[in-house]
Amino acid sequence: ADLSQLNSFGFSSKAQYLIDVYSDNELVEAVSFAEQHDLPLLVIGGGSNLILSDYLPGVVVRLQSTGYRKVSEDDASVLVEAEAGENWHQLVEQFIAEGWSGLENLALIPGTVGAAPVQNIGAYGVEIKDRFEALTAYDREEKVFVDLASSDCQFGYRNSVFKSKNPGRYIITRVRFRLSKCFVPTVGYGALTQQLADDEVTARSVFDAVVAVRQSKLPDPLELGNAGSFFENPVIPRAQYDVLKAHHPDVVAYPDRPGFMKVAAGWLIDQAGWKGYRAGAVGVYDKQALVLVNYGGGCADELMALASAIQHSVSERYGVELVPEPRRYPLSV
Ligand code: EPU
Repeated sequence: ADLSQLNSFGFSSKAQYLIDVYSDNELVEAVSFAEQHDLPLLVIGGGSNLILSDYLPGVVVRLQSTGYRKVSEDDASVLVEAEAGENWHQLVEQFIAEGWSGLENLALIPGTVGAAPVQNIGAYGVEIKDRFEALTAYDREEKVFVDLASSDCQFGYRNSVFKSKNPGRYIITRVRFRLSKCFVPTVGYGALTQQLADDEVTARSVFDAVVAVRQSKLPDPLELGNAGSFFENPVIPRAQYDVLKAHHPDVVAYPDRPGFMKVAAGWLIDQAGWKGYRAGAVGVYDKQALVLVNYGGGCADELMALASAIQHSVSERYGVELVPEPRRYPLSV
Protein backbone atom coordinates (compact mmCIF):
# COMPACT_ATOMS: atom_id res chain seq x y z
CA ALA A 1 0.00 0.00 0.00
CA ASP A 2 1.26 3.48 -0.86
CA LEU A 3 1.36 5.92 2.06
CA SER A 4 2.43 9.09 0.27
CA GLN A 5 -0.98 10.67 0.93
CA LEU A 6 -0.88 9.48 4.55
CA ASN A 7 2.17 11.36 5.80
CA SER A 8 2.35 15.12 5.88
CA PHE A 9 5.89 15.25 4.46
CA GLY A 10 4.41 13.57 1.39
CA PHE A 11 7.25 11.03 1.27
CA SER A 12 6.64 8.12 -1.00
CA SER A 13 6.46 5.11 1.28
CA LYS A 14 5.15 1.60 0.85
CA ALA A 15 3.77 -0.51 3.66
CA GLN A 16 3.80 -4.30 3.58
CA TYR A 17 0.23 -4.25 4.96
CA LEU A 18 -2.12 -1.32 5.53
CA ILE A 19 -5.18 -2.13 7.63
CA ASP A 20 -8.07 0.30 8.10
CA VAL A 21 -9.73 -0.26 11.44
CA TYR A 22 -13.26 0.92 12.25
CA SER A 23 -14.00 -0.72 15.62
CA ASP A 24 -12.36 -2.08 18.78
CA ASN A 25 -12.79 -5.63 17.49
CA GLU A 26 -11.09 -4.85 14.21
CA LEU A 27 -8.24 -3.23 16.10
CA VAL A 28 -7.71 -6.34 18.24
CA GLU A 29 -7.79 -8.47 15.08
CA ALA A 30 -5.21 -6.30 13.34
CA VAL A 31 -2.91 -6.42 16.36
CA SER A 32 -3.15 -10.19 16.66
CA PHE A 33 -2.54 -10.56 12.91
CA ALA A 34 0.74 -8.66 13.35
CA GLU A 35 1.67 -10.71 16.40
CA GLN A 36 0.85 -14.05 14.81
CA HIS A 37 3.12 -13.23 11.90
CA ASP A 38 5.75 -11.61 14.08
CA LEU A 39 5.47 -8.32 12.22
CA PRO A 40 6.16 -4.83 13.57
CA LEU A 41 3.09 -2.62 13.87
CA LEU A 42 2.73 1.12 13.37
CA VAL A 43 -0.45 3.00 14.20
CA ILE A 44 -0.81 6.00 11.95
CA GLY A 45 -3.07 9.00 12.56
CA GLY A 46 -2.69 11.95 10.21
CA GLY A 47 0.95 11.03 9.63
CA SER A 48 1.87 14.57 10.61
CA ASN A 49 4.57 13.65 13.08
CA LEU A 50 6.29 10.86 11.19
CA ILE A 51 9.30 10.59 8.93
CA LEU A 52 8.57 7.51 6.85
CA SER A 53 11.17 5.48 4.98
CA ASP A 54 10.53 4.15 1.45
CA TYR A 55 9.50 0.75 2.72
CA LEU A 56 7.73 -0.14 5.97
CA PRO A 57 7.94 -3.81 6.80
CA GLY A 58 5.01 -5.11 8.81
CA VAL A 59 1.57 -3.72 9.48
CA VAL A 60 0.41 -0.12 9.39
CA VAL A 61 -2.92 0.38 11.13
CA ARG A 62 -5.08 3.38 10.41
CA LEU A 63 -7.77 4.12 12.98
CA GLN A 64 -10.88 5.21 11.12
CA SER A 65 -13.42 5.49 13.94
CA THR A 66 -15.03 8.94 14.01
CA GLY A 67 -17.60 10.87 16.01
CA TYR A 68 -17.92 12.39 19.47
CA ARG A 69 -20.47 12.40 22.26
CA LYS A 70 -21.24 14.36 25.38
CA VAL A 71 -20.56 12.10 28.38
CA SER A 72 -21.75 14.45 31.14
CA GLU A 73 -22.06 18.11 32.03
CA ASP A 74 -22.43 20.54 34.89
CA ASP A 75 -23.17 24.27 35.00
CA ALA A 76 -19.76 25.32 33.82
CA SER A 77 -18.33 22.48 31.82
CA VAL A 78 -18.93 19.51 29.60
CA LEU A 79 -17.12 16.20 29.34
CA VAL A 80 -16.83 15.10 25.70
CA GLU A 81 -15.46 11.87 24.28
CA ALA A 82 -14.09 11.77 20.74
CA GLU A 83 -12.98 8.83 18.60
CA ALA A 84 -9.31 8.50 17.70
CA GLY A 85 -9.88 8.77 13.95
CA GLU A 86 -11.50 12.22 14.10
CA ASN A 87 -9.62 14.99 12.32
CA TRP A 88 -8.29 17.26 15.06
CA HIS A 89 -8.93 20.64 13.46
CA GLN A 90 -12.46 19.82 12.34
CA LEU A 91 -13.31 18.53 15.80
CA VAL A 92 -12.04 21.71 17.47
CA GLU A 93 -14.25 23.72 15.11
CA GLN A 94 -17.29 21.54 15.85
CA PHE A 95 -16.76 21.93 19.60
CA ILE A 96 -16.80 25.71 19.19
CA ALA A 97 -20.04 25.49 17.19
CA GLU A 98 -21.50 23.46 20.10
CA GLY A 99 -20.53 26.27 22.48
CA TRP A 100 -17.75 24.24 24.12
CA SER A 101 -14.51 26.16 24.36
CA GLY A 102 -10.97 25.46 25.51
CA LEU A 103 -9.31 23.99 22.44
CA GLU A 104 -9.53 27.02 20.13
CA ASN A 105 -5.81 27.83 20.58
CA LEU A 106 -5.06 24.42 19.07
CA ALA A 107 -6.85 25.14 15.79
CA LEU A 108 -5.25 24.02 12.52
CA ILE A 109 -2.87 21.51 14.11
CA PRO A 110 -2.71 18.70 11.57
CA GLY A 111 -3.46 15.13 12.57
CA THR A 112 -6.03 13.07 14.42
CA VAL A 113 -7.52 12.97 17.91
CA GLY A 114 -5.77 9.69 18.74
CA ALA A 115 -2.35 11.11 17.91
CA ALA A 116 -2.83 14.36 19.83
CA PRO A 117 -2.00 13.07 23.35
CA VAL A 118 1.10 11.20 22.17
CA GLN A 119 3.14 14.36 21.97
CA ASN A 120 0.81 16.50 24.07
CA ILE A 121 0.19 18.89 21.18
CA GLY A 122 0.41 22.53 22.13
CA ALA A 123 0.31 26.01 20.68
CA TYR A 124 -0.25 29.63 21.76
CA GLY A 125 -0.21 28.93 25.48
CA VAL A 126 -2.43 25.82 25.57
CA GLU A 127 -1.50 22.14 25.60
CA ILE A 128 -3.91 19.26 25.22
CA LYS A 129 -3.09 18.19 28.79
CA ASP A 130 -4.79 21.38 30.04
CA ARG A 131 -8.16 20.23 28.67
CA PHE A 132 -7.62 16.51 29.04
CA GLU A 133 -9.67 14.27 31.31
CA ALA A 134 -8.85 10.67 30.33
CA LEU A 135 -8.46 8.34 27.39
CA THR A 136 -9.16 4.78 26.39
CA ALA A 137 -6.40 2.73 24.82
CA TYR A 138 -5.69 -0.84 23.84
CA ASP A 139 -2.84 -2.11 25.99
CA ARG A 140 -0.80 -4.45 23.80
CA GLU A 141 1.04 -5.87 26.80
CA GLU A 142 -2.00 -6.89 28.86
CA LYS A 143 -4.24 -7.34 25.81
CA VAL A 144 -7.10 -5.31 27.29
CA PHE A 145 -8.64 -1.88 26.80
CA VAL A 146 -7.66 0.44 29.64
CA ASP A 147 -8.70 3.89 30.82
CA LEU A 148 -5.82 6.21 31.54
CA ALA A 149 -6.16 9.40 33.58
CA SER A 150 -4.04 12.49 33.05
CA SER A 151 -1.44 11.43 35.64
CA ASP A 152 -1.05 8.01 33.96
CA CYS A 153 -0.20 9.76 30.70
CA GLN A 154 2.79 11.65 32.22
CA PHE A 155 2.35 14.65 29.97
CA GLY A 156 5.28 16.99 29.48
CA TYR A 157 6.37 19.46 26.81
CA ARG A 158 5.77 17.59 23.51
CA ASN A 159 5.92 14.38 25.52
CA SER A 160 3.89 11.65 27.25
CA VAL A 161 4.12 8.04 28.38
CA PHE A 162 3.07 7.08 24.83
CA LYS A 163 6.17 8.65 23.36
CA SER A 164 8.96 8.22 25.90
CA LYS A 165 8.40 5.54 28.51
CA ASN A 166 6.23 3.00 26.73
CA PRO A 167 6.25 3.66 22.99
CA GLY A 168 4.11 1.17 21.10
CA ARG A 169 2.42 -0.29 24.17
CA TYR A 170 -0.83 1.67 24.04
CA ILE A 171 -3.07 2.32 21.03
CA ILE A 172 -5.28 5.29 21.82
CA THR A 173 -8.87 4.74 20.68
CA ARG A 174 -10.89 7.49 22.43
CA VAL A 175 -10.02 10.73 24.20
CA ARG A 176 -12.14 12.61 26.76
CA PHE A 177 -11.89 16.38 27.10
CA ARG A 178 -13.18 18.74 29.78
CA LEU A 179 -14.45 21.80 27.91
CA SER A 180 -15.93 25.02 29.16
CA LYS A 181 -19.42 26.43 28.61
CA CYS A 182 -18.18 29.86 29.66
CA PHE A 183 -15.41 31.04 27.39
CA VAL A 184 -12.18 32.11 29.09
CA PRO A 185 -9.57 33.29 26.57
CA THR A 186 -5.89 32.35 26.72
CA VAL A 187 -4.29 35.13 24.70
CA GLY A 188 -0.90 35.83 26.23
CA TYR A 189 0.95 34.99 23.01
CA GLY A 190 2.09 38.18 21.22
CA ALA A 191 1.19 37.44 17.61
CA LEU A 192 -2.23 36.16 18.69
CA THR A 193 -3.01 39.25 20.77
CA GLN A 194 -2.04 41.45 17.82
CA GLN A 195 -4.23 39.48 15.46
CA LEU A 196 -7.18 39.87 17.87
CA ALA A 197 -6.68 43.56 18.61
CA ASP A 198 -9.82 44.93 16.95
CA ASP A 199 -12.13 41.99 17.52
CA GLU A 200 -14.52 41.15 20.27
CA VAL A 201 -12.83 38.13 21.83
CA THR A 202 -14.89 34.96 21.51
CA ALA A 203 -13.86 31.33 21.15
CA ARG A 204 -14.56 31.70 17.45
CA SER A 205 -12.47 34.85 17.06
CA VAL A 206 -9.54 33.21 18.87
CA PHE A 207 -9.95 30.16 16.62
CA ASP A 208 -9.90 32.41 13.53
CA ALA A 209 -6.91 34.35 14.82
CA VAL A 210 -4.95 31.15 15.50
CA VAL A 211 -5.74 29.95 11.99
CA ALA A 212 -4.53 33.27 10.55
CA VAL A 213 -1.30 33.29 12.58
CA ARG A 214 -0.53 29.68 11.72
CA GLN A 215 -1.23 30.21 8.03
CA SER A 216 1.17 33.15 7.98
CA LYS A 217 4.05 31.11 9.46
CA LEU A 218 3.47 27.45 8.74
CA PRO A 219 3.16 25.83 5.31
CA ASP A 220 0.02 23.86 4.44
CA PRO A 221 1.13 20.21 4.22
CA LEU A 222 -1.13 19.74 1.20
CA GLU A 223 0.89 22.36 -0.67
CA LEU A 224 4.35 21.85 0.81
CA GLY A 225 5.25 18.69 2.71
CA ASN A 226 6.19 19.33 6.36
CA ALA A 227 5.60 18.16 9.92
CA GLY A 228 5.26 21.50 11.70
CA SER A 229 8.16 22.28 14.01
CA PHE A 230 10.89 19.81 13.16
CA PHE A 231 12.82 20.31 16.42
CA GLU A 232 11.67 20.78 19.97
CA ASN A 233 12.54 24.05 21.63
CA PRO A 234 15.48 23.02 23.81
CA VAL A 235 15.14 23.46 27.55
CA ILE A 236 18.53 24.30 29.06
CA PRO A 237 19.82 25.03 32.58
CA ARG A 238 19.81 28.66 33.63
CA ALA A 239 23.62 28.73 33.95
CA GLN A 240 24.06 27.55 30.36
CA TYR A 241 21.51 30.12 29.25
CA ASP A 242 23.42 32.92 31.02
CA VAL A 243 26.57 32.02 29.05
CA LEU A 244 24.60 31.84 25.80
CA LYS A 245 22.98 35.19 26.51
CA ALA A 246 26.36 36.78 27.30
CA HIS A 247 27.66 35.78 23.85
CA HIS A 248 24.37 36.32 21.99
CA PRO A 249 22.43 39.09 23.76
CA ASP A 250 19.43 38.88 21.42
CA VAL A 251 18.78 35.14 21.91
CA VAL A 252 15.04 34.43 22.26
CA ALA A 253 14.07 32.35 25.31
CA TYR A 254 11.34 31.97 27.91
CA PRO A 255 11.42 30.83 31.53
CA ASP A 256 10.53 27.16 31.86
CA ARG A 257 10.42 25.08 35.06
CA PRO A 258 12.49 26.63 37.87
CA GLY A 259 16.17 26.81 36.96
CA PHE A 260 15.59 26.24 33.24
CA MET A 261 15.02 28.31 30.12
CA LYS A 262 13.30 27.25 26.90
CA VAL A 263 15.22 28.59 23.90
CA ALA A 264 13.51 29.32 20.56
CA ALA A 265 15.07 26.71 18.27
CA GLY A 266 13.74 28.70 15.31
CA TRP A 267 15.90 31.62 16.36
CA LEU A 268 19.04 29.45 16.69
CA ILE A 269 18.52 27.88 13.25
CA ASP A 270 17.63 31.20 11.67
CA GLN A 271 20.68 32.97 13.15
CA ALA A 272 22.91 30.10 12.07
CA GLY A 273 21.92 31.02 8.52
CA TRP A 274 19.65 28.13 7.58
CA LYS A 275 16.36 29.89 6.90
CA GLY A 276 15.33 29.33 3.27
CA TYR A 277 18.25 26.93 2.69
CA ARG A 278 17.53 24.20 0.17
CA ALA A 279 19.32 20.88 -0.35
CA GLY A 280 17.91 18.95 -3.28
CA ALA A 281 14.24 18.20 -2.66
CA VAL A 282 14.22 19.26 1.00
CA GLY A 283 14.89 22.51 2.80
CA VAL A 284 14.25 24.96 5.63
CA TYR A 285 11.01 26.93 5.31
CA ASP A 286 11.66 30.56 4.48
CA LYS A 287 9.07 32.00 6.90
CA GLN A 288 9.88 29.82 9.93
CA ALA A 289 13.30 28.22 10.33
CA LEU A 290 11.98 25.54 12.68
CA VAL A 291 10.02 23.92 9.86
CA LEU A 292 11.72 21.56 7.41
CA VAL A 293 9.93 21.01 4.11
CA ASN A 294 9.79 18.56 1.22
CA TYR A 295 9.49 20.40 -2.09
CA GLY A 296 8.48 17.13 -3.73
CA GLY A 297 10.36 13.93 -4.39
CA GLY A 298 12.36 14.09 -1.17
CA CYS A 299 12.92 11.13 1.12
CA ALA A 300 13.59 10.38 4.77
CA ASP A 301 17.36 9.97 4.35
CA GLU A 302 17.68 13.28 2.55
CA LEU A 303 15.68 15.02 5.27
CA MET A 304 17.66 13.42 8.08
CA ALA A 305 20.92 14.50 6.42
CA LEU A 306 19.69 18.10 6.43
CA ALA A 307 18.45 17.77 10.02
CA SER A 308 21.80 16.48 11.16
CA ALA A 309 23.69 19.26 9.36
CA ILE A 310 21.48 21.78 11.20
CA GLN A 311 22.04 20.00 14.53
CA HIS A 312 25.82 20.11 14.07
CA SER A 313 25.82 23.73 13.07
CA VAL A 314 23.65 24.83 16.01
CA SER A 315 25.63 22.69 18.42
CA GLU A 316 28.93 24.14 17.26
CA ARG A 317 27.73 27.71 17.29
CA TYR A 318 25.58 27.79 20.40
CA GLY A 319 26.45 24.63 22.34
CA VAL A 320 22.78 23.62 22.25
CA GLU A 321 21.62 20.17 21.13
CA LEU A 322 18.44 20.08 19.03
CA VAL A 323 16.11 17.08 19.33
CA PRO A 324 13.77 16.25 16.43
CA GLU A 325 10.05 16.34 17.21
CA PRO A 326 8.71 13.91 14.57
CA ARG A 327 9.57 10.23 14.82
CA ARG A 328 11.45 8.27 12.19
CA TYR A 329 9.89 4.96 11.14
CA PRO A 330 11.17 2.31 11.02
CA LEU A 331 13.77 3.36 13.58
CA SER A 332 16.77 1.26 12.60
CA VAL A 333 17.57 2.17 9.02
N1 EPU B 1 12.23 32.79 15.45
C1 EPU B 1 13.19 33.34 14.62
N2 EPU B 1 13.30 32.87 13.33
C2 EPU B 1 12.50 31.90 12.84
C3 EPU B 1 11.51 31.36 13.68
C4 EPU B 1 11.39 31.80 14.99
O1 EPU B 1 13.93 34.19 15.02
O2 EPU B 1 12.67 31.54 11.68
C5 EPU B 1 12.11 33.30 16.84
C6 EPU B 1 11.21 34.50 16.90
O3 EPU B 1 11.79 35.43 17.79
C7 EPU B 1 9.94 33.99 17.51
C8 EPU B 1 10.42 32.84 18.35
O4 EPU B 1 11.55 32.31 17.64
O5 EPU B 1 9.33 34.95 18.30
C9 EPU B 1 9.38 31.77 18.53
O6 EPU B 1 8.82 31.40 17.26
P1 EPU B 1 7.28 31.04 17.11
O7 EPU B 1 6.46 31.98 17.89
O8 EPU B 1 6.98 30.86 15.68
O9 EPU B 1 7.13 29.67 17.89
P2 EPU B 1 8.09 28.42 17.93
O10 EPU B 1 8.78 28.40 19.24
O11 EPU B 1 8.92 28.36 16.71
C10 EPU B 1 6.33 26.85 19.06
C11 EPU B 1 5.81 25.46 18.80
C12 EPU B 1 4.78 25.48 17.68
C13 EPU B 1 3.64 26.37 18.11
C14 EPU B 1 4.18 27.77 18.42
C15 EPU B 1 3.13 28.66 19.01
C16 EPU B 1 7.56 23.91 19.39
C17 EPU B 1 8.63 22.97 18.92
N3 EPU B 1 6.91 24.56 18.47
O12 EPU B 1 7.02 27.22 17.88
O13 EPU B 1 4.30 24.14 17.52
O14 EPU B 1 2.65 26.43 17.12
O15 EPU B 1 5.25 27.69 19.39
O16 EPU B 1 2.81 28.26 20.31
O17 EPU B 1 7.33 23.99 20.60
C18 EPU B 1 4.66 22.13 16.29
O18 EPU B 1 4.96 21.61 17.36
O19 EPU B 1 4.65 21.48 15.20
C19 EPU B 1 4.33 23.55 16.26
C20 EPU B 1 4.08 24.21 15.14
